[in-house]
Amino acid sequence: MIAPIERTLASLRTQTALWRKAGETIGVVPTMGALHQGHLSLARAARAECDRVIVTIFVNPKQFNDPDDLKNYPRTEEDDARKLESTGVDLIYVPDPEQIYPDGFATNVSVGGLTDMLCGASRPGHFDGVATVVSKLFLQTAADFAFFGEKDYQQLQIVRRMAADLDIPIEVVGCPTIREEDGLAMSSRNLLLSDRSRVYAPVLAEVMEEMRAQLLDGAALSEIVGDAQARVLAAGFNEIDYLELRDGRDLSLLDRAKPEARLFAAAWLAGVRLIDNMAV
Ligand code: PAF
Repeated sequence: MIAPIERTLASLRTQTALWRKAGETIGVVPTMGALHQGHLSLARAARAECDRVIVTIFVNPKQFNDPDDLKNYPRTEEDDARKLESTGVDLIYVPDPEQIYPDGFATNVSVGGLTDMLCGASRPGHFDGVATVVSKLFLQTAADFAFFGEKDYQQLQIVRRMAADLDIPIEVVGCPTIREEDGLAMSSRNLLLSDRSRVYAPVLAEVMEEMRAQLLDGAALSEIVGDAQARVLAAGFNEIDYLELRDGRDLSLLDRAKPEARLFAAAWLAGVRLIDNMAV
């Protein structure tokens, strides 16, 4: 059965109040739609953990730097609702824009430090937009648990920091990246890849896997990153925003593998920006 769709905060709260009264726990999976197996795995994780599950779908204008990117972002609500059927979610919250940003909305949630590097360096304001909308979605749903993919690892750490700093009583759960058979990390943006680009896209993860093996063999990042970048570019990527080793907790830069180390990459392939990360 397709889960009911609510579009206003009032109707969402009418439902969540009933669940709360019955003593049920609530899990939320925030998304921007264009759902793929990665999102469905988050919904299933929520289903396994919580009495009630809400998936939110909201293409958040505040986190886009480029108006064309916002315009082109895939919007597939009917399909999304159908895909969620198999996961047994209880409610889909697709807020009308004024439910999130009513007239006069003037608040910005900005997390320091963690937002300056990696994707934050090339997308100014992006993570403020994410932190602002996610804090609203946490407060609107009053969920006990929130499920995020490790695919957007920096986002996950920022959301954790934001919830802790603002004392929002929610547990943020990170779930593993889901990959296509050829290793490409699942992302709604993959829909924007041409057939030709789709063939080359998995090279990014392939190169990262090789780097991981080299790092675990004792190599320093500085010794191997040049070759790795050259391989990514030779495969048809146009530009690399970053290919870095960082501590998974505070995202500080590393040169050698250690517990908690993660590789992070962002690169452009024919106008589509792909990101990936993996534990080393
Ligand atoms: O990861 C996403 O899809 C978005 O950044 C999120 C968390 C739904 C906020 O808009």
